[in-house]
Amino acid sequence: MNESKRKIPLLIDTDPGVDDALALLMAFEDPDHQLLGLTIAAGNVGLKHTVANALKLCEIAGVDVPVYAGCPVPLVHEAEDAAYVHGLDGFGDTNYSPAARQPEAEHAALAIIRLAKQYEGELLLVTLGPLTNLALALRLDPALPSRIARLVVMGGAVTGLGNTSIPAEFNIAFDPEAADIVFRAFPRFDLVDWEAVLRHGFLHTDFEDWLARGDARAHFYDGISRKTREWSEGKRGAHWHSADALAMVAALAPGGITRREVRPIRVETEGRLSRGATPVDWSQRTGQAANAGIVMDYDQAAFEARIRACLGV
Ligand code: BDR
Ligand code: CA
Repeated sequence: MNESKRKIPLLIDTDPGVDDALALLMAFEDPDHQLLGLTIAAGNVGLKHTVANALKLCEIAGVDVPVYAGCPVPLVHEAEDAAYVHGLDGFGDTNYSPAARQPEAEHAALAIIRLAKQYEGELLLVTLGPLTNLALALRLDPALPSRIARLVVMGGAVTGLGNTSIPAEFNIAFDPEAADIVFRAFPRFDLVDWEAVLRHGFLHTDFEDWLARGDARAHFYDGISRKTREWSEGKRGAHWHSADALAMVAALAPGGITRREVRPIRVETEGRLSRGATPVDWSQRTGQAANAGIVMDYDQAAFEARIRACLGV
């Protein structure tokens, strides 16, 4: 019998963002998942831009999924964006013409709740930005974790090698209270942290070659990522790191995860030097239940093959 395989329903919370864009192109391309929509966070830049960027990327890729705008600010404290990495508009300030489509009227947090109920026990939720929308959804529907089949979070720095302060990674540091709510609420989630990202860079020279050989998606991505790549090359050298793309490949194709450590993890919401840090109980001192499957390593060749495919190479 020729029975086609049922696709896994997928929802992505994201703050595009140059590396979010690469992750989204990868998700658009995936044959085994049914993308239900994009819920949009503020983070890399303000919500107005992250929503506009998501809509534009969908248009460029020819993908017609609903886009839901979420919270414009963190739950409790104001936070600085990452426009110095992604450009003032979050997409490299290329002055692109706005997408024709508008976002949906429904709030991102309500869309998360509704879709988790509609696809109860099946939904793959991937977060690529600050966790504000998901935390709000959890406050409105505390039973949410029991409805979601798998949560994959890009965030944290599991031995304290941060990228936004000494110990903290951007997505967590932007809204630590939200991350704390999420990390406490989900009994188990997969975490792709900044330190894993640093172990999975790929050469700028290779990436430039893929961009040159790719299709319209590669052409658009070349433009929006140029400033960030130049900034990255000056700061981090020969390798380009796409945090959200690594999280996405681990979400879409978990078979490529070659090492995962399951440990308790929490979020520091206070501390003069450590707000937003994500301490991991590596030596099981606390007796707390292990809530995070920390992705330590991923098949690098498979990761790069996915990136090439989503650029049309
Ligand atoms: C994360 O922060 C953002 O700047 C990126 O989009 C990524 O989600 C990396 O720390
Ligand atoms: Ca992001």
